[in-house]
Amino acid sequence: MLRTLVWRFALPTLLVITGAAFFVMPHVESLLTGWFRADVDMRAQLVMSSMEEPLTELVDRPVAARIKRYLAKVTADERLLAVLVCRPDGQAIYQTEQTPPPVSCAMAAVDDFRQGKPVRTPRGTVYVSGFEAVAAGGQAFRTLIVHDLSFVDRRHGTVRDYLIAFAVLAAAALALLTVAVAWLLLHGWVGALIRDIRGKRFQDDAESPRAALPVLSQVRQVLREIEDSQRLEMDYRENWTPRALQHVVREHLGEPRMIVVSNREPYVHMRGEDGRPRVQVPASGMVTALEPVIRACSGVWVAHGSGTADKDVVDRHDRVRVPPADPAYTLRRVWLSEEEENGYYYGFANEGLWPLCHVAYVRPAFREEDWRQYAAVNGKFAQVVAQEAQSDSPVIFVQDYHFALLPRLVRDRIPGATIALFWHIPWPNEETFGVCPWKEELLRGMLLADILGFHTRYHCQNFLATVDRYVECQIDREHMTVTIHGHVCRVAAYPISIEWPPRWLEQLPGVDACRQDVCRRFGLPADIAIGIGVERWDFTKGIVERFQAFEKMLERHPRWRGKVSLLQVAAPTRGKLPVYQALRQETEAVAEGINRKWGTESWKPIVLIGEHQEPLEVFGLYRAADFCLVNSLHDGMNLVAKEFVSARDDEDGVLILSTFAGASRELIEALLVNPYDIGETAEAIRTALEMPRQERRDRMRLMRLTVKENNVYRWAGRMLMDAARVRQRQRLRTAAARGTSQARGAA
Ligand code: G6P
Repeated sequence: MLRTLVWRFALPTLLVITGAAFFVMPHVESLLTGWFRADVDMRAQLVMSSMEEPLTELVDRPVAARIKRYLAKVTADERLLAVLVCRPDGQAIYQTEQTPPPVSCAMAAVDDFRQGKPVRTPRGTVYVSGFEAVAAGGQAFRTLIVHDLSFVDRRHGTVRDYLIAFAVLAAAALALLTVAVAWLLLHGWVGALIRDIRGKRFQDDAESPRAALPVLSQVRQVLREIEDSQRLEMDYRENWTPRALQHVVREHLGEPRMIVVSNREPYVHMRGEDGRPRVQVPASGMVTALEPVIRACSGVWVAHGSGTADKDVVDRHDRVRVPPADPAYTLRRVWLSEEEENGYYYGFANEGLWPLCHVAYVRPAFREEDWRQYAAVNGKFAQVVAQEAQSDSPVIFVQDYHFALLPRLVRDRIPGATIALFWHIPWPNEETFGVCPWKEELLRGMLLADILGFHTRYHCQNFLATVDRYVECQIDREHMTVTIHGHVCRVAAYPISIEWPPRWLEQLPGVDACRQDVCRRFGLPADIAIGIGVERWDFTKGIVERFQAFEKMLERHPRWRGKVSLLQVAAPTRGKLPVYQALRQETEAVAEGINRKWGTESWKPIVLIGEHQEPLEVFGLYRAADFCLVNSLHDGMNLVAKEFVSARDDEDGVLILSTFAGASRELIEALLVNPYDIGETAEAIRTALEMPRQERRDRMRLMRLTVKENNVYRWAGRMLMDAARVRQRQRLRTAAARGTSQARGAA
């Protein structure tokens, strides 16, 4: 490195300084000449002054021998070459012998003879100075004094030699000095940079001096980026974060326009009693999962605007930026008439498909008018999606059973779109699904997605069996793909999850404070054990069975009477439908019956909170509880189970979980129960109440690890990565098919 520095740095310095020396040389020479001439002029003046008197006499009586003698003395000085005494008309009175041609008295006859001038002679340059004087007899005469100037040339040569030698030496010294200083400094900086790299100090903690050498901060920036991307690579294998998800989307899908489509919107604006809009986060597992994903990826969320004040807050394109406190993406609201909502949402989706897909023994109802509305609303959403897409290759992430027809309708409008459909509820076996009169249309609509996701492999197999039975297509069970009219759809299991860590925890106090707060809010004694259930008031959730199991536990284990209460949050949902109204009445009646039978003045066995609770309140309840009961009769996943686990950073609390909820495949350390078996669930409640602290901690620790690793960023990331891969394969296949048909045409 040192040799490189010398060559790269010292040599140019040397050349530049030597060049500069050559450039200034003529100026130095002319300066010196000026000085020498001034000297010679002065000397000539002195000589003339000393000669003037003797000469005035000698000119009057010009005896050649006397003048010769006198001037021979004067010109004994080796620099004074000759003296000429002349008449004003240029005739010589006398001139010394060594007068060099072409100097002659003719030079004294010109007007500016007094002006000293250099004259080139065969012996070198001489300098002629002219003076006028008047002899004693009144006769004017002129004297030319000739000085030898050849010494000036010699001195010029010497000065030039010295100057060049000096420039070369100075340049060499300067270059070497600079190289030495640069070498020492660089050595120090590079050493500091290496220490920074080893210590992974790329930010403000870096030691290497940014101000001294800006390139160091650039080097650090590059290293930081490399490290970040390596960390992200690792992240999305081990620890999924919002940034890892962004990275995956960018890597695999470019910078896509991301559109999420769902029926339920992530933020609902409801008009309060004072007439002002209030924001609500709806109770929906789908919203819980999707919201952090779109917040990480940005883009547009298209959903039904169902809030009473939704129209008050949108712009003229029906858009509003959310989350309201810290906007990160756009919510595009779609308005539905009452007729549309009744047919599509209440009718076909929630009286037809919902009970069809959940084995909860509620009979599905299929009405032709509902189906018409369902198809029409799917078409309306497809149109809005096409408006919002703003590109030929957007990523459309369709949610749930409300939009089975949407993949086909969007594909018709945007053939290059990457479409993923996630089915958030279970998929029944083919025989059960077969009762739907429009099964074929639904399946064909779904199969034009690139990816069809379900929570479990079991649901995927049910779906493939259904497709196999009702649609003409090719099924590849090895790769889990369905090919229909040249389009390939991959069917795979993606167990949905929640964000990790949950953002609500930041705003909540420690577990003890949450517990005190909950006891105060619901009038519970401070030392009571708390069980918690959080659900929409839905017949699939097994709320009545839960109360019955709780009562059975009290019956069987009297020691727990007066010592434990069950807090049940039941968020009203789909309240227009008779089956939901009936469920509400039944639940209230069962809770009242139990409280009447077992309760005392100071103890209420069941506290039923029949209203919507915001996520922050729900997380406060999770943290306050000793156990959480999730005994759904049938559930795609159930995110309450995962939220409860995520809320317990104290590694305490017991989860009781239905084997018919998808979450039971992952959270195997929960107490797993058959929700139809009331006795078994009652025993699980007692076990939870009496479980030693160490066992609670061990179970909770393992479950927390599972949810942390399989969080919602991983869910979305895996699904979008697979969608991108399927899409790329599709493009290759289409291009190959086009190539083959062109070749055939040419032949
Ligand atoms: C389930 C569905 C969601 C739905 C949620 C709430 O979790 O999978 O799509 O949003 O229930 O139901 P609601 O009808 O109130 O949106």
